[in-house]
Amino acid sequence: MQNYQKIALIGGVYSNYLALEETLKDARRRGVEAVFCLGDLGAFGPHPNRVCDILRRENIPVVQGNYDNSIGNGLNDCQCGYTDPRDNYFAKLSYDYTFANTADGHKKWMKTLPPEIRLQMGNYRVLLCHGSPRKMNEFLWESTTPTHFLEKLCRDYQADIICATHTGIHWQRELPGGKYFANVGAIGRPENDGKPNVWYTILETAPTPKFTFTPVEYDYQQLAREMRREGLPEEFIETVLSGWWTTCLEILPAKERKRGFL
Ligand SMILES: [Fe+2]
Repeated sequence: MQNYQKIALIGGVYSNYLALEETLKDARRRGVEAVFCLGDLGAFGPHPNRVCDILRRENIPVVQGNYDNSIGNGLNDCQCGYTDPRDNYFAKLSYDYTFANTADGHKKWMKTLPPEIRLQMGNYRVLLCHGSPRKMNEFLWESTTPTHFLEKLCRDYQADIICATHTGIHWQRELPGGKYFANVGAIGRPENDGKPNVWYTILETAPTPKFTFTPVEYDYQQLAREMRREGLPEEFIETVLSGWWTTCLEILPAKERKRGFL
């Protein structure tokens, strides 16, 4: 197994191919040895094939997200795990659009994606997953996830560093015994803080693990124009333009919801 020192981790892409292009340029400028994607390639944005084209052309290893599992297996919904009927209404619109506009070849590829990727970085065993190692669509928020639970995941899954995405908001925690957990964020949509940029993560392990949450600027006006042309919901377009979430707020814990206003 190859041993890395500096890698880029990309969370939920949500068809934002413009942000993906900028992220890859930025990661290369910063001299990463490899790029990994933690899944959820479709949803939200326009032209879902474009993200798949880029990731496959660049040979970027991808963890299977709940969205990719659904599209790849032809399921009826995205398994996003929302509880609010309004969120599910928009999720369904987005899912039907993505399913109808994803090429069969990409669907077959998504079906083959692994639920986790394991890496060695120095002495650290790194586990990349989508929601959590035990559940593809588990939401692990900073304010509601106890440290002892993250320690248990590291123990149960024999990992020193666990990285996930799925929630769309980045955070990290050092755990007792030299273990780490990080949510690498998402490049598909902004973080509900009134800013249109998105985030990815650089992980370095020498001399000790360090997560650098990295903002990415991209042409969000162009993305919004394309979303409008594709007939995607105005609510999603507003998020791209304003940096504020208009959906999925129900699942966001109070502390994370408040953070964007501080
Ligand atoms: Fe997800």
